[in-house]
Amino acid sequence: MNSPLRIGIAGLGTVGAGVVKLLAEHGRLLALRGGRPLKLVAVSARRKAKKRDIDLSHVRWENDPMALATAPDIDVVVELIGGSSGVARRLVQKALASGKHVVTANKALLAMHGTEIAAAAEKKGRILAFEAAVAGGIPIIKALREGLVGNRVGRLYGILNGTCNYILTTMRETGRDFDVVLAEAQAAGYAEADPSFDVDGVDAAHKLAVLTGAAFGARVNFAGIHVEGIRHVSSMDIEFAEELGYRIKLLGLARETRHGIEQRVHPCMVPLGAPIAHIEGVFNAVVVEGDFVGTTMFQGRGAGQGPTASAVVADLVDVARGRHMPAFVVPADRLADKKVSPMDRHVGAYYMRLMVQDRPGVISAVSGALAKERISLESMLQRGRSQSGEVPVVLTTHETEEAAMRRALARIAKLGAVAEEPCLIRIEAF
Ligand code: HSE
Repeated sequence: MNSPLRIGIAGLGTVGAGVVKLLAEHGRLLALRGGRPLKLVAVSARRKAKKRDIDLSHVRWENDPMALATAPDIDVVVELIGGSSGVARRLVQKALASGKHVVTANKALLAMHGTEIAAAAEKKGRILAFEAAVAGGIPIIKALREGLVGNRVGRLYGILNGTCNYILTTMRETGRDFDVVLAEAQAAGYAEADPSFDVDGVDAAHKLAVLTGAAFGARVNFAGIHVEGIRHVSSMDIEFAEELGYRIKLLGLARETRHGIEQRVHPCMVPLGAPIAHIEGVFNAVVVEGDFVGTTMFQGRGAGQGPTASAVVADLVDVARGRHMPAFVVPADRLADKKVSPMDRHVGAYYMRLMVQDRPGVISAVSGALAKERISLESMLQRGRSQSGEVPVVLTTHETEEAAMRRALARIAKLGAVAEEPCLIRIEAF
């Protein structure tokens, strides 16, 4: 039998405990598939006494996770601490500098420092693997690195945050508003006590930054992403979307345009005919459009103990086999410093919902503001009459430049008959 791959795990939360369980439960299978045993040698976590339902009796406990980075009996450090700075970053840097391979699920760290960490791994000839950082159990990094490596990617998009997808799905199914559904999701443990990373789009943007690097051969550029969350999406918009033949999804999208690379995370109107419109609840999905392969879609669970542990262990089997590729598919020093295409240059169709006083001349003033920017209307809906005299008016446009849409929107928001901040949602053509 070949010598075992000796593993040190830092962080024993849900995912860490899942990796320990998977390694124990599938030990024989993994030894066959990895060509040698995958042996857990040491672990480190904040609280040793915490009840975890895993057997650590033959595993060394390190109070300081940094000890894993230099331990002579460890070949690969699995970083499951999280966070873009602090211990997680220091541990990964130190482990690579000490000649260890690194497997991490830390999307925030990769989004902020991915290029630099990939360069550090390559300099040492070590593997940096992060399948679990993006879309949980979906093997999308492997797909980009291996299965789709022959393609130029024109566009990539996905549902990258299960919490948001769950909230939007539940809002649609129950007709309830965002705040109510979020509170219920928190009570049920589906959403974090501080939900901002999820509902404000930051978590999805971290994942998009990593995917863009791998798909487009670009330096990881989190700061170049336009990010909006789902707090402003109302159940009324969700209902109108269905009526118009769309479903609202929080998507992360990246594509090459003539102005540079466009990366954005925001709620989108997705045509009901598009398969991604039907990815519901906590599920994630990623669509990759390659020039030779065409459109491919990957779906599965984006979080949770089993799916995330499955992704971490896939990376460990690669390390055991010595399967080695640059972290972002091309060598870190060849990743392109691509220009960021500004959102003002984004070209697309729009959904706009206004709450207006139901009186003569309002629609004409609204369409006048759009006409002034040469924005062409595709459809218009008006429904009912409320006690306050305000009614929703919904407009969809043909393709236009975002800058023009923003100028028109600013004029419309100032009209006396417009009662509240207009809601603008981009329509995606798939
Ligand atoms: N909080 C994330 C989600 C999972 O809701 O999808 C971990 O990235």
